[in-house]
Amino acid sequence: MGEKNRIYLFDTTLRDGEQSPGVSLNVDEKLEIAQQLARLGVDIIEAGFPIASPGDFQAVKTIAQKVKGPVIAGLCRASRNDIHGCWEAIKYAERPRIHTFLATSDIHLKHKLQTSREDALQQAIDAVTYARSLCPDVEFSAEDASRSDLDYLAQVVEAVINAGAKVVNLPDTTGYAVPEDYGQFIRSIIERVPNIGDTIISVHCHDDLGMAVANSLAGVLGGARQIECAVNGIGERAGNASLEEIIMALYTRKSFYNKEIEVNYQEIYRTSRLVSSLTGMVIQPNKAIVGANAFLHESGIHQDGVLKERSTYEIMSPELVGVFKSNLVLGKHSGRHAFKERLLALGYDLDDTELAKAFAGFKEIADKKREINDDDLEALVKDRVKAVPERFSLEYLHISCGTGVIPTATVKLGIEGKVFQAVSTGDGPVEAACHAVDRITDIYGKMIDYKLHAVTSGKDALGEVLSRIQIEDNVYNGRGLSTDILEASVKSYINAINKYYYEISLRDQD
Ligand code: KIV
Ligand code: ZN
Repeated sequence: MGEKNRIYLFDTTLRDGEQSPGVSLNVDEKLEIAQQLARLGVDIIEAGFPIASPGDFQAVKTIAQKVKGPVIAGLCRASRNDIHGCWEAIKYAERPRIHTFLATSDIHLKHKLQTSREDALQQAIDAVTYARSLCPDVEFSAEDASRSDLDYLAQVVEAVINAGAKVVNLPDTTGYAVPEDYGQFIRSIIERVPNIGDTIISVHCHDDLGMAVANSLAGVLGGARQIECAVNGIGERAGNASLEEIIMALYTRKSFYNKEIEVNYQEIYRTSRLVSSLTGMVIQPNKAIVGANAFLHESGIHQDGVLKERSTYEIMSPELVGVFKSNLVLGKHSGRHAFKERLLALGYDLDDTELAKAFAGFKEIADKKREINDDDLEALVKDRVKAVPERFSLEYLHISCGTGVIPTATVKLGIEGKVFQAVSTGDGPVEAACHAVDRITDIYGKMIDYKLHAVTSGKDALGEVLSRIQIEDNVYNGRGLSTDILEASVKSYINAINKYYYEISLRDQD
């Protein structure tokens, strides 16, 4: 199959995805996601928008330095300052890409940029020319392309190709397009631009009308060869096209699309889970491919059919996307060897220190919970192994609360080998404990989001709390795991405070 049939997967989870309302990831979390995206095998990782903040710059630079395999792209507006800043962050990558953008629709030119079509055309040419003087791989995005005048857009595309753009992206920025129309739009631009040659036309669709994936695939039928998408479909407003849906549509309906992609399918589920847990964006149970119900059959007729022959009601196998359900459970008598073997089967190859930390956590939980299954183990690894260094650790928690009682918490925290204690009250038990933590740490966080979910079913289920804590001007995601939900809540709060502390200590080292 020729090059022209190859579809390039451009993942923007760390840029557009991170623009999801309420999401904010620190450098380590972004690096972890980027490494997982590399394992999944996407072609391009858009690591961020370096000029947006020093934190974004640092994250893009770190990813460029450490993540091998995919092209690493950085986004920048069409100005010399932005482009230069972007290059400074991505230049360390094996294969860097500058992704510069400028709006082309009259609505944006008139109301947002207050510029003319002629001036915008020149600005796009200047931006791409400058970007090419720094980097051999330059992508230009015509923001709001799907609502732009076709003749003008074709003129811009021709000009940026002349200026050196290798990839031209034609986004449906507002999620306004519908599949037939968008597919035809991509086709028309390709037909109208005389110097299109080997230039890769890219699609980038938002999901405001729930059609981002359908529009992206229609764009492919119209001739696009790159799809920009995000894990779990996260992104601005209603989000971007979902990476896992795009991959599985191209795979499952290969006889229809006749396109090639190169990914490690079995990493799909793990990638989705990682992004969900680090961003705190919960996946709806009926979400295609990665939702909890995606491969469950409820009705008797369906169950009967699947037992007789899976293909009666299953068009994809859960194992292909990495959903392995094992009946194996571990318990308090399980040894380190069995524990290690099970983690390996789940794809976690831990070094000795990580394994020791995870095993200690396993023993703690096994004392309280009779059976520990794969979901518990995954939650445990994320909780114990991937955590930032623990400046503050929870040593003791006692809360008294009830009807007519003022919630009062006693907390002991370990700090550098010493134990400190504080007592506080609050409107509720969690608040009382968080206030006590604040008194010890002298760091005052505000809980702006709190989600509790049971990792597995049953009365002794592990509770996982994902919280978002505002400290000064930044927001930190906290995670806490325990069979006791109040303990999980306080651990989640302390985890966010540890992230804050880690970040400022890194800042002080610079
Ligand atoms: O939606 C959009 O137009 C974008 C561009 C910056 C590519 O995100
Ligand atoms: Zn976008």
